[in-house]
Amino acid sequence: MNIKTICCIGAGYVGGPTMAVIAQKCPHIKVTIVDINESRIAAWNSSDLSKLPIFEPGLDKIVEEARGRNLFFSTNIDKAIDEADMIFISVNTPTKTYGKGKGMAADLKYIELCARQIAKVSKQNKIVVEKSTLPVRTASAIKNILENTGNGVRFQILSNPEFLAEGTAVEDLLSPDRVLIGGDSSEEGKKAVQVLVDIYTNWVPKERILTTNIWSSELSKLTANAFLAQRVSSINAMSELCEKSGADVNEVSKAIGMDSRIGSKFLKASVGFGGSCFQKDILNLVYIAKTYGLEEVADYWEQVILMNEHQKQRFSDRIVSTLYNTVSGKKITFFGWAFKKDTNDTRESAAIKVADNLLSEQANIAVFDPKVVEERIYADLEHLNSRNPEENRTLLKVENDPYEASKESHAIAVLTEWDAFKTYDWKRIYNNMNKPAFIFDGRGILDIKALQKIGFVCYKIGSGS
Ligand code: UDX
Ligand code: ADP
Repeated sequence: MNIKTICCIGAGYVGGPTMAVIAQKCPHIKVTIVDINESRIAAWNSSDLSKLPIFEPGLDKIVEEARGRNLFFSTNIDKAIDEADMIFISVNTPTKTYGKGKGMAADLKYIELCARQIAKVSKQNKIVVEKSTLPVRTASAIKNILENTGNGVRFQILSNPEFLAEGTAVEDLLSPDRVLIGGDSSEEGKKAVQVLVDIYTNWVPKERILTTNIWSSELSKLTANAFLAQRVSSINAMSELCEKSGADVNEVSKAIGMDSRIGSKFLKASVGFGGSCFQKDILNLVYIAKTYGLEEVADYWEQVILMNEHQKQRFSDRIVSTLYNTVSGKKITFFGWAFKKDTNDTRESAAIKVADNLLSEQANIAVFDPKVVEERIYADLEHLNSRNPEENRTLLKVENDPYEASKESHAIAVLTEWDAFKTYDWKRIYNNMNKPAFIFDGRGILDIKALQKIGFVCYKIGSGS
């Protein structure tokens, strides 16, 4: 089978960049991305490339090249499904907020809606690819829905988890460490796997394309994220010990990272990991383990999340205790709100929890983030439901300029590791702040010695200073 048309349901952080790269690398395939969110699709179609709904370095260039040629964004979901030989499901799978598995299991309602829509619309055989991170054995649920439509259409279901990290999505997609494709072991299943392999071989070396059974593929995704998050929680646990003992976590992390058995990546101590995947996927893993009665396995992985919560809490506690045990009425400036640099995504960002803790202490907060818009910040806080929205808006202000944001501030807290923060005129910032002027570097990116020379009182995560 030769794929001529692809449809992707979900124009988010995963679907958008992934399909843009497929379209760029496969000009012979027509790729249509659909979404129920009209304003998101309108933003993808915007002639002003700075208005794309998702900020990723290099993405605008790729969209510019492929859009209108073989890359299309649309809200006409039925038409795109009908036309497609292959359909990627790339909708969100948040943690359930209700019912059985509340707070742990993945909410599959969006996936199920997609499957039902595909079943309803399809007139010819199709390959359906799970792109969203899904708990093990979701494919069988999708299969059930698709196979019981009664209209004789045959579907093959593949799992092709994304391993792109936000902020480096384009790079990760262009030269992935590996591409994982899980499928059925039947003849038809193997053929479907090969069809997807053929798409990726347009730009990915064959030896980097790994094919497995569908359950292994689904579980590998959860495992990869659990292992990565575990490394962050492990180094964050050490960061607290470093602060007490006089060791410096950056030095420790460099020393152990040079051990080839450990490796240097994902050893950066931080105020806590965020993002749409880590917490959700680990909770998912915990839920699956519990479902199988594996209490110890569940507890082991849950600890990674608990450590992360502790890290956020202890950062805000540190701010309060350093500011003489009261922040009520004091102005604290946040540099960064996104869950990491080079993205406008804020899902599960540590900044949200830290802000919430400080607002509970009646602090005034001014937030500056180079890419996150004001409404997103208020929506993140409202989502917590800790206080009424007006109170959030009174206590927390969003600024477009770092110098304005830090004016008359008592302390600056660095929550995201944006490179730009290192290049600011820190002397100017210092001069306009309340004295003593404090800095709490939750990402360990600033030159503390230089800041101390200016006069700042500094705290850096994982070190005694
Ligand atoms: C992650 C996975 O890396 C990716 O493969 C998967 O497909 C989706 O989830 P992402 O959430 O985009 O990607 O970001 P990632 O770079 O993994 O960072 C996650 C969080 O961990 C961020 O908040 C980041 O700041 C934090 N982190 C990462 C650290 O605190 N220290 C580190 O050393 C690395
Ligand atoms: P991710 O990081 O997984 O890409 P996002 O929330 O950024 O998550 O993107 C998921 C997208 O999927 C959203 O834009 C949402 O509107 C879209 N979506 C969810 N359900 C459906 C559906 N049934 N049909 C079409 N689009 C959907």
